[in-house]
Amino acid sequence: MRIQTPGWLPDEDVEETSLRPRTLDDFVGQPGLKAQLAVSLEAAIARGEALDHVLLAGPPGLGKTSLAHILAAELDVPLVMTAAPALERKGDVAAFLTALEPRSIFFVDEIHRLPRALEETFYPAMEDRQLPITVGQGAGAKVMTLPLPPFTLVGATTRAGLLTSPLRDRFGIQHRLEPYDLDELADIVRRSATILGVELAHDGAAAVARRSRGTPRVANRLLRRVRDFAEVRADGVVTGDVADAALDLLQIDHLGLDRLDREILRAVCERFDGGPVGLSTLAITVGEEQDTLEDVYEPYLLQCGFLKRTPRGRVATPRAFAHLGLEPPPAGPADASSLF
Ligand SMILES: Nc1ncnc2c1ncn2[C@@H]1O[C@H](COP(=O)(O)OP(=O)(O)OP(=O)(O)O)[C@@H](O)[C@H]1O
Ligand SMILES: [Mg+2]
Repeated sequence: MRIQTPGWLPDEDVEETSLRPRTLDDFVGQPGLKAQLAVSLEAAIARGEALDHVLLAGPPGLGKTSLAHILAAELDVPLVMTAAPALERKGDVAAFLTALEPRSIFFVDEIHRLPRALEETFYPAMEDRQLPITVGQGAGAKVMTLPLPPFTLVGATTRAGLLTSPLRDRFGIQHRLEPYDLDELADIVRRSATILGVELAHDGAAAVARRSRGTPRVANRLLRRVRDFAEVRADGVVTGDVADAALDLLQIDHLGLDRLDREILRAVCERFDGGPVGLSTLAITVGEEQDTLEDVYEPYLLQCGFLKRTPRGRVATPRAFAHLGLEPPPAGPADASSLF
């Protein structure tokens, strides 16, 4: 497999790259998706055709980019990567598509950020492997159709809801990645520990998994911090106690909430009396970008049942008050009625 990465892409964290699963078998969890991809891969390989276009949705760090690498490796074809914000003009898309080797994987990250005009360029490319381009200007301008090699578009998005349905419908394989359960996360932690050469006790893997908020990238990050702690403050072995002590020191609580998670909850509970509070107001209050709040922090707070989205804004649940050790307002959160 050859990976062609345009120069503007930031260098990936070397260690994260080394921890990436290389094959579908290496990829932990998501059994439904894996079974579906295994069949599609086998069929595409047997026919010598390009794999159908694949749309992967889900919160950050659940394995979308890893899967794009795996698909290219399993098909033994080049992987060409870009991200929607880097595609500004039709010419940018044409440059990528016309240079693809047959059956390549063309990975477009953050595909929900594709400008609408460019989205339309993708329709004939995906459906008929054709790229209409306009040559010349004014009255003499002509529309020509460039034939394209067979290719597989793999789109990744943290916001499937922002994709237009004409674009979404053109992906033959669509899947939403779900947060991982504790056993899966513990498997991922064990696999990473082996690669990194970390000595890990059984309860150490479980302790890291518990605070990883369902996310492999977080699990790997915590493992590295716990490894540091084990080397400096213990005898190098990551036991449950060592992991807990390390994560307490990092102020990551037993559910995996970090300081900013708690600050968000505290803002809703205390400053806004349990809500509802609008996302933009909340973002300003905690000093974070609105997108980061929505993509990175909120999904886990919603999943934990600490926050609810209502038409009038975010509302803290009684569980959120309890988690922070706060007394809920007498009649429940200010706008509890809007929850029902
Ligand atoms: N199923 C898995 N099994 C093992 N490791 C995984 C799995 N999913 C993700 N990882 C690990 O988590 C890291 C992050 O995954 P990846 O970069 O693929 O996430 P992503 O969904 O593309 O995130 P983003 O939306 O932020 O781009 C990878 O480097 C890999 O080590
Ligand atoms: Mg990614």
